[in-house]
Amino acid sequence: MISNDLPQGMSQNAIPLKLGHPDPETLLTPELRNAMLHVINSPDAYTTLQYGTEQGTRSLIDYLVGKIQREQGISLQPANLMVIAGSTHGVDMLARLYTRPGGAVLVEAPTYVDAIHVLLDHHVELCSIPMDEHGLIPSELEKQLVRLHSSGTFPSMLYTIPNFHNPTGSTLSEARRFEIIRIAQHYGLLIVEDDVYRDLSFKSAAPASFYALANGQQVFSIGSFSKTLAPGLRLGWLVGSEESIQYCVNCGTTQMGGGANPFVAHMVAEYCRSGSLEKHISHLQSLYKIRRDVALEALEQYMPSDVNWTHPNGGFFIWLSLPVNVFAQEVKRLALQEGVLVSAGEGFFVNPGDGEHNLRLAYSCAKPEDIEAGIRILAQVIEKSRVEPNPRIS
Ligand SMILES: Cc1ncc(COP(=O)(O)O)c(C=O)c1O
Repeated sequence: MISNDLPQGMSQNAIPLKLGHPDPETLLTPELRNAMLHVINSPDAYTTLQYGTEQGTRSLIDYLVGKIQREQGISLQPANLMVIAGSTHGVDMLARLYTRPGGAVLVEAPTYVDAIHVLLDHHVELCSIPMDEHGLIPSELEKQLVRLHSSGTFPSMLYTIPNFHNPTGSTLSEARRFEIIRIAQHYGLLIVEDDVYRDLSFKSAAPASFYALANGQQVFSIGSFSKTLAPGLRLGWLVGSEESIQYCVNCGTTQMGGGANPFVAHMVAEYCRSGSLEKHISHLQSLYKIRRDVALEALEQYMPSDVNWTHPNGGFFIWLSLPVNVFAQEVKRLALQEGVLVSAGEGFFVNPGDGEHNLRLAYSCAKPEDIEAGIRILAQVIEKSRVEPNPRIS
């Protein structure tokens, strides 16, 4: 690695409870190296360096279709799937194709900070739907749609993270998914489910996707290799109806640049074909489950009694709710001085003020002993940063 070239947002020697990155030690496995060498040394290596077919590398599409069919018990054809350059590419492309400047998009409150950024790049208005510990609240979604429709605003899209949500760690129940599908179909809303954490479940498999439950109607499902294999590969997939995938395949950037990352896609297809992905995912599930358990135990042991937190069943994140006299920015600042990096809640909200008493902890990148130490320090910092009530206000 080039000196000073730390991954985005990392800082030397601090306890990293801030970023939703995979553990760096899980990235360059011998199996991934072998897959790279296999592609480089294959007689037709040069074709992988040409512009790729628009829908994406066929061997990867076939692998992913088989995996999704097997795991989700649905019938899928290669025409239902397109290779993309990570979830970010998918969200950006769908916003480009299915929204217009000045239009409205619905998002969870809170939601993934960079999804807010990408969607705002398309000059849409973002409308927030409240969540609770079980995820997006369907009745709030319907209330918001009624309000918007009556004022002449017709949102075209709902962006949602149904499994092991970023930043809250929550997972939406199947009953809520059905209710949201009913509402979306009634109001003509496209559901875009960002399912990048699906494979990182600590219990049984994650619940059925929106795509599966809606029989593929009015839903795009986005997957990614970023949280399992490596984010630097920039590789993911988009699942949708045959017509909607064709619409994406026909879009300008795909036609101009060809399918996403053909060289990397060939390499990942080879890696998956050899059976390495399943083994790697099962290793990650145990690794991150141990870290989640350590984090939850440390929270239980050290946090003041007026701090609450979520209990994720997968993924990377725990969401903390602080008492009203503790401000997340101050906690973040003091924690940094003590060598602990955390995310303050504001950035995850369309209205940043809604997150001023929240923190997101990511346990994916820190060793168990550092998670424990980091949470102990954080608890002390939270106590220290309490604001005294103003005696003149009774
Ligand atoms: C919900 C969510 N979507 C998308 C991404 C980014 O995915 P990708 O690297 O595939 O673009 C992240 C990464 O933090 C995420 O948490």
